[in-house]
Amino acid sequence: MMNIEWDADKYTKDFSFVNQYGTALLDMIDGENLSVLDLGCGNGSLTKKLIDAGFEAEGMDASDELLKTARETYPYINFLSGDATEFSVDNKYDVVFSNAVFHWIDKEKQLPMLENVYNALKNNGQFIFEMGGYGNNAIIHEALKTEFDKRSIKYVMPFYFPTIGEYTQKLEQAGFLVRSAVLFDRPTELNGCNGLYDWIHMFVKTPFRDLAEEIQEDIINSAVMKLKPELFKDGKWYADYVRLRCKALRNEYYQLRSY
Ligand code: BEZ
Repeated sequence: MMNIEWDADKYTKDFSFVNQYGTALLDMIDGENLSVLDLGCGNGSLTKKLIDAGFEAEGMDASDELLKTARETYPYINFLSGDATEFSVDNKYDVVFSNAVFHWIDKEKQLPMLENVYNALKNNGQFIFEMGGYGNNAIIHEALKTEFDKRSIKYVMPFYFPTIGEYTQKLEQAGFLVRSAVLFDRPTELNGCNGLYDWIHMFVKTPFRDLAEEIQEDIINSAVMKLKPELFKDGKWYADYVRLRCKALRNEYYQLRSY
C-alpha cells in the first residue's frame, strides 16, 4: 500500500520532473524487444517511453486516479491495477522497471514486495529501479521535524530511504543477484516561486493528517522560511534528492550457490 492519495492532474502538471529523471534508467536495460513491467507506473509517462524505446511495456499501479489518467493519455498501452506489495502475474517479464516508487512502501513490506518482483521475472530477468535513498530530502524532513517538535507534535517520517547495504541485503534475501547499486545526490529544481511549499503540500501528507489547517500552514510556512537560505538559489527552489539506483537479476545459477 502507498502512503498517499494522488492528485493525478497536479502531479502530471507540476511534478513531471520525477518521470523525466527516470529516463536515464531506461539505458540500464540490456537487450531489445523485451517484455517490461513498469511497476508503480503512475501517469504512464515512463511506460510510454519504454514503448517508444522498442520494449513491450505495460504499467501497473495501485492508484485508480493515476491509472485513469494513464489510460486516458495512452489508450494503446495496457495498464494493470495492482499493488507492488501484493501482486502476482500469469506471464513473467524479461524486465521489471520502477522509478520513484519504493520509498512510499513501508519498511516491513519491502521484502514481500521484492519477492513479488522476483516471482514476476523470467530466469535472467532484469530488475532495474531507482528510489529515494538514505539522506533523501533530509534537510527538508529535519526542518519539518524541528517545527513539529516546537509544537510538541510527533513527526513520523513517512518514507523509507535505505542505505545501499540495507537494500542490497533485502534484494539478496529475495533471491536476487545484485549487479549494481549506487547512492548519489541529485539536487532537483522545483517548479515555481512556491516550489518548496507546493512540494511539501503534494508529497508530505501523512505527518499532517490529523492537524488543523492553520497549524499545517504555520508549520509549512515556517519550515519553508527557514530553508530558504539553503534551498533557494538564483530565484529557484531545489529539493535535496538522493537516489538509490540498482540493477539486480533473477539468476537461477545464483540460487544453486551454497554458503
Ligand atoms: C522521491 O522521488 O525521492 C520522492 C518524491 C516525493 C516524496 C518523497 C520522495
